[in-house]
Amino acid sequence: MSSTCEITGLSEEQVAQWPHIHAVLTGGDLPALSESANSYSKDLDFTIASHRQPKGEEKRREGLITHLERSLTTRFKGSNLIVFGSSKTGLSLKGGDLDLCLEMPPKDQKKTVKRISGMLRSQGMESVQALTRATVPIVKFIDPRSGFMVDISINNTLAVHNTRLLSTYAGLDKRVGEVTKCIKHWALHRNLSDAAEGTLSSYAWSLLAIQHLQMEGLIPNLQTGKDRTFVEVDGMEFDLTMDTDAKGNDSKASLAELVTSFFHRYSNWDWSEQVVSIRNGSPLTRESKGWMNEEPSAITIITTKKQKPGRMGEHHLCIEDPFNLDHDLCRVVRPEGEMRIRDELIRAAAMFANGAKWSEICTTVDPERLSNLEPDDLFHDLRTKSDDDVKNMRDKVAGELDSLEMRIQALEDERQVTIRMAKAMRGVIEETSDLRKEHKTTIQGLSKRNKEIDSIKNQRDVINTNIVIPLHMIEDELSKVYKRLTTEIDIHRVPSLNREKEQFSWFFELQAMHAKGREASEHHQRFIQLVKEQKSEIKKLKVFESEHDETTAKLLAEEPLLKDKDITTNEARSYDRRVVNIQKALRTRRGELHKLRREAGRLDAWIRKKAGGERGRGDRRGGDRGRGKGKGRGSKSPREKAVSNAPMTLGDISGLLSALDSTDEKKEKKISSKKAGMRKLGNLGAHRGNRGSYKKKE
Ligand code: UTP
Ligand code: MG
Repeated sequence: MSSTCEITGLSEEQVAQWPHIHAVLTGGDLPALSESANSYSKDLDFTIASHRQPKGEEKRREGLITHLERSLTTRFKGSNLIVFGSSKTGLSLKGGDLDLCLEMPPKDQKKTVKRISGMLRSQGMESVQALTRATVPIVKFIDPRSGFMVDISINNTLAVHNTRLLSTYAGLDKRVGEVTKCIKHWALHRNLSDAAEGTLSSYAWSLLAIQHLQMEGLIPNLQTGKDRTFVEVDGMEFDLTMDTDAKGNDSKASLAELVTSFFHRYSNWDWSEQVVSIRNGSPLTRESKGWMNEEPSAITIITTKKQKPGRMGEHHLCIEDPFNLDHDLCRVVRPEGEMRIRDELIRAAAMFANGAKWSEICTTVDPERLSNLEPDDLFHDLRTKSDDDVKNMRDKVAGELDSLEMRIQALEDERQVTIRMAKAMRGVIEETSDLRKEHKTTIQGLSKRNKEIDSIKNQRDVINTNIVIPLHMIEDELSKVYKRLTTEIDIHRVPSLNREKEQFSWFFELQAMHAKGREASEHHQRFIQLVKEQKSEIKKLKVFESEHDETTAKLLAEEPLLKDKDITTNEARSYDRRVVNIQKALRTRRGELHKLRREAGRLDAWIRKKAGGERGRGDRRGGDRGRGKGKGRGSKSPREKAVSNAPMTLGDISGLLSALDSTDEKKEKKISSKKAGMRKLGNLGAHRGNRGSYKKKE
């Protein structure tokens, strides 16, 4: 059985997990400030250089923003798309996300977020997630063309303002951006900057960096000044005062000194008393802020024996938002996250003090997690493979591509047919020239019968609204009145003349009603008969349709995405649903197609590159070894890289895949010509007409 620490209550395993914080909590010394900070200069410079945007990335980012701006502002009239976050502040690491804010008149934000995600899916964006429960609803997705991860939030006004504040800080001195990037790089690799996973957001790490630089005297506090600017956001007033003309202070501290002192500062930070506040320019006390150190603490929760230890108190690693003063950025931090953050800060400071390498300090925790970030070298997994292995991989991908294309074609065909079925059942299809003869006759019959059904139903209903008494009651009453009028009269109870007149006129009225009632009943019988016929014809049509193409039918039967989604009735609505399901399956399959094409392109490019390399091998190879500082080396063109063995990035390869892109264009053209064909048919695809008009209203 594992023992428990008497002071902290942590188990042996937990001590092994967080040894540095445990050592401090049990009376160990806090790390000293590194005495050889400047020995880290080169490594830190290299880290900053490695996060420089690759050539062409800016263009791709701009292209994506323009595309999103165009589609969102067309869809949501009166809206405006604003870039915020690190891509605006310049504090972004390579592969960082793109934060966008859609400013628009107040509306149901959750609904808007869902509509945006629908739109993005239809544009082929990947991993689209609508986070409607977040404080600020957000849509997350990946653009498969550029590889950018994008977050779109709505009316995230304060974020736009705090981005401006951070940008202004970054503009004061280039060391602000450099220090922040180094801290963000370390936090990313040590897995400490993921709010969704219970650690701090990247933004929070930027605030920690700014507070540190304020305290080091590198930058002033930009939120001072007598003339205050108040702005109302969502009914609340915020002080957005910001001195955009301020200058940086004349500090001589080097980047390495500022980075090492960052870790020293925060490993020594008294989280039980201090609140990080860039708004104040220096830390506040918890008391002045009213943010007391609340129980249960992280360690209490972690060491509790209870099955459900409850939620951690709100304020532990207090970091005040510069504008939303009630917002403590540690709100997202979970107990394990807090332990890790504190442990890692002490670890890094101690390693600096002991002269460990920067690369060791930043050793990647759980590398799998970062695999979606753009690798430095797109061919890293192919370099150790033989040419035959790569060719086999390419053949395998080609085979998968073929079968996926067939599957997509089958889905396309089925979608077209299902749309026609839905239209046919509503009796709206007019033009059926491209359908087979039997099919055509059946569909025309359906259309005619539908009209007849409507007309008969109308006639029956008109009569029924005029004659409220059902036919069988009219008949009963008729026979009663007839009996009364024709039986022998009891001479002691002779009816009055008026009564006699009334009886006769009631009799004639009943007779007239009876004739109409019978007419309605005949209509009703006919109506039932027609509906039966219609149902049986639709059944035939369904059988016919499912046999319309054996290959398609077989492929569809094997389509797992459509399993359990088949129609159960013969009504038009179920065909509509089927169209929706097919559409969903198509979207997923097209996403897979895109990935496979990209992989095929990558393998092709490698095979070409190897062939080119064989021919041109010589001086060039030596030039690629190591990462020299010479300007020319890092800026080879993709073509140059392709014929040498230089690592290639996603940006480089997109140029080499242009042939592939042109295939895509052809494909897109084909699809749009199909759309035009449908338009000729009256654009009556299930729900399509409605959607079109809805868009216009927006
Ligand atoms: P991020 O955490 O994505 O920060 O928040 P970032 O600076 O863009 O970092 P990377 O490069 O993507 O890792 C994006 C923006 O969201 C706002 C801030 O404006 C931040 O710049 N934000 C984030 C808040 O206002 N409050 C928060 O708690 C988090
Ligand atoms: Mg961001």
